[in-house]
Amino acid sequence: MGRFDGQVALVTGGARGMGRSHALALAREGADVAIFDQCHDLPTLDYPLAREEDLKATADMIRDEGRRVWAKRVDVRDFASLDAAVGEVVTDAGRLDIAVANAGISGGDPVQVADPARWADVIDTNLTGTFHTFRAAAPHMIKGGRGRIIGISSMMGRGASGGMGAYVASKWGVIGLVKSTAQDLARFGITVNAIAPGNIDTPMVHNEGLARKVRPDLESPTFEDAKAFLGLLHVQPDAVLEPEEISAMVVFLCSHEARHMTGAVLDLSAGASARVTA
Ligand SMILES: NC(=O)c1ccc[n+]([C@@H]2O[C@H](COP(=O)([O-])OP(=O)(O)OC[C@H]3O[C@@H](n4cnc5c(N)ncnc54)[C@H](O)[C@@H]3O)[C@@H](O)[C@H]2O)c1
Repeated sequence: MGRFDGQVALVTGGARGMGRSHALALAREGADVAIFDQCHDLPTLDYPLAREEDLKATADMIRDEGRRVWAKRVDVRDFASLDAAVGEVVTDAGRLDIAVANAGISGGDPVQVADPARWADVIDTNLTGTFHTFRAAAPHMIKGGRGRIIGISSMMGRGASGGMGAYVASKWGVIGLVKSTAQDLARFGITVNAIAPGNIDTPMVHNEGLARKVRPDLESPTFEDAKAFLGLLHVQPDAVLEPEEISAMVVFLCSHEARHMTGAVLDLSAGASARVTA
């Protein structure tokens, strides 16, 4: 018996990284899972996003868990196509119980040289994409009389680092959106919470572009070199954490035990949370 037997979950950005890990964790607890991912790169980013093969691979892993899967190429910035894709899943599955607004991109520069196009991509994906996901999921959950919605913020949504204005602003915005949405949906039996991860070992962090950005002192910096910088953001002596640690938070927030937790932010950031105000 899984904790989410008979339930249907949506994970955006589900092709790889934490989205894949969340989708698998929910499937292992019995949920059928829809994974949406845009599967193409953005010219404003210095690292690659997921490929269609990644989306297919995650879908196969979910099937291997014995669960149904809906794998769709969807850009969370495009509300009309996201809303239509959620509608197709609900028409087929008959319900939607869980939505994890996980799709996100990392980008930013010092404000005096910041690229307005990169700012727009980061805000549109991380903040507006999260709103679109909440907006598309909520009516189906209201109809079903229950639901669990999760926004993915960051330790950068609880504090700040220079040179990351767009990302920081987007992740502070996710927390504000989560708290407001929690109040909108409380009377419908729907909880809405945020998770604020520290550095997690996914392709968003484990890539050459990030290594070059955080170690400009080196000619060809590696991920190991980048860890020296990433470690400074944490308090515990672990520079990067595993995606499955965040998926355990997702499972908890979707569980019966968390039914009276809403509008909250769960920090899992190796102590970065110890530096932020209450
Ligand atoms: N890795 C970290 O250290 C870290 C820390 C805190 C928060 N986060 C957040 O966790 C979430 C997952 O990130 P990750 O680390 O797994 O990164 P990732 O790059 O491995 O995965 C993100 C996924 O989102 C997809 N995506 C990007 N833009 C999209 C769009 N417009 N529509 C649909 N899909 C889109 C990408 O293709 C990719 O598959 C993001 O919101 C990220 O900001 C990451």
